[in-house]
Amino acid sequence: MGEVADLELGPGQSIFVGDPLRMVLAGLEEESRFPYVVEAAGYAVGVLTLQAGAARLAGWPDEDSAWLLRGFLIDRRHQGQGLGPLAATSAVDAAAKLTARRGTHEAGVVLSVNETNPAGLSAYRTAGFVDQGQYLGGSSGPQRTMYRSFTG
Ligand SMILES: CC(C)(COP(=O)(O)OP(=O)(O)OC[C@H]1O[C@@H](n2cnc3c(N)ncnc32)[C@H](O)[C@@H]1OP(=O)(O)O)[C@@H](O)C(=O)NCCC(=O)NCCS
Repeated sequence: MGEVADLELGPGQSIFVGDPLRMVLAGLEEESRFPYVVEAAGYAVGVLTLQAGAARLAGWPDEDSAWLLRGFLIDRRHQGQGLGPLAATSAVDAAAKLTARRGTHEAGVVLSVNETNPAGLSAYRTAGFVDQGQYLGGSSGPQRTMYRSFTG
């Protein structure tokens, strides 16, 4: 947790994502959330959370047919090295395993990313997420809904 508390965002990035430590703690308190620490070479370099029953928060038409990926960030000192796409890909694998373990019916992972966040848009595209259109439900401007199925 100490390493998670030391994760930093780059300038201007705090509008895209919340405080890392707070997100992980919130994740531990809620049964529907599964927080993960992204590790590289044994060090914490990022965090992400998978949430069940919350896909509408990313502009998905229902709550339960996809996992919501939220609270995703790579520490600013490790950005730009391809870790984001690797972590997003691993998140899809982890989500598929959770679905199998829990016996639920999600078919993939959905997220929303701010239209003015080129690093995010690019990282998700590289990880195989496909743009599903604009979503205006966020609090910090227009988002894109992006989805990757477990099979795709
Ligand atoms: C979005 C994020 C997770 C991507 O992770 P990443 O490890 O930097 O991903 P990549 O290394 O693939 O970089 C993504 C793109 O941003 C560019 N980039 C990222 N950091 C950079 C930096 N410090 N300097 C220059 N370019 C950078 C990369 O060149 C790449 O562009 P390209 O695909 O056109 O070549 C990370 O930038 C981040 O944590 N951002 C802040 C929080 C956030 O926006 N989260 C997503 C909310 S939905």
